[in-house]
Amino acid sequence: MKILMVCLGNICRSPMAHGFMEGLIAKYQLDWTVDSAGTNGFHDGEHPDPRAILEMKKHGLDISKQVSRKIQAQDLESFDLILTMDRQNLNYVKKLGGDRDISEKAHLLLKYANVQNAEEVPDPYYDNRFQESGKLIQIACEQIVQKYL
Ligand code: 4NP
Repeated sequence: MKILMVCLGNICRSPMAHGFMEGLIAKYQLDWTVDSAGTNGFHDGEHPDPRAILEMKKHGLDISKQVSRKIQAQDLESFDLILTMDRQNLNYVKKLGGDRDISEKAHLLLKYANVQNAEEVPDPYYDNRFQESGKLIQIACEQIVQKYL
């Protein structure tokens, strides 16, 4: 399975989701791949936000080498599952699909994983709540892996 994690800037939330899923793929030796992308392209070519790198380091995961990129229409073909951090990202992805109905493969990460009491991963870029966002993402990634094991 090929999974694409999507947020706005691809420097905070989706890189953390990318990192958690990469860790689980290695742990369970899954034949899956994961990548991440943003919808605004403002940080193209940049590494993740230092606060996201630090938060992931606490989980023993190194995301420092990831590079931000903007999602492309081609990604909607290449990936089996496109998981977005919030509704704004999901709407963008659906619009990018144009006439094509991608509702089977594009979902809110937290809804797809059925994380209780949360539908969107709050953006920690302005309020620094990386631990809280990271926790929600971690739970979701673990649930997705359990679902397919
Ligand atoms: P992210 O957070 O979508 O979780 O990567 C953001 C990072 C940067 C910006 C917005 C959100 N920005 O507009 O610069």
